[in-house]
Amino acid sequence: AKILVLHGPNLNLLGAREPHIYGHETLAEINQQLAERARAAGHELLWFQSNAEHELVGRIHQGRDDGTAMILCNAGAFTHTSIALRDAFAAAAIPFIELHLSNVFAREPFRHQSYLSDIALGLICGFGADSYRLALDAALQRLPAGSV
Ligand code: DQA
Repeated sequence: AKILVLHGPNLNLLGAREPHIYGHETLAEINQQLAERARAAGHELLWFQSNAEHELVGRIHQGRDDGTAMILCNAGAFTHTSIALRDAFAAAAIPFIELHLSNVFAREPFRHQSYLSDIALGLICGFGADSYRLALDAALQRLPAGSV
């Protein structure tokens, strides 16, 4: 099946951005590992990063047309602000897993709110880059085996 990893604003700077919070792994390294792991399980993994809300909304719409079966989404700060992203997920009706590198609940109160959590399959946060790997494992459990 087709799995999409969606990265929101500022995640292009992973590795260099506040590494004490977000770790040292770069987005390219994370994406490559995820793609390999998905391929080994017989699935195809694509990824998309944007700092622009409308591009993320557009990519979710595209997922509706290209047969994306599952989305792993780290929406970054848009998690806490974007009704548009929430509506896009609802409109596309593609199951998704919300994830964050940091434990957002151990941080500032404005990060405790998410416009996505209640319509997500589930939420993984606080495990650094492992949050992505754990989210992929959860996705693989829920997809029919080896169905590229
Ligand atoms: C983040 C947490 C958000 O609050 C923050 O705005 C980010 C990254 C995370 O992965 O921990 O950009 O989603």
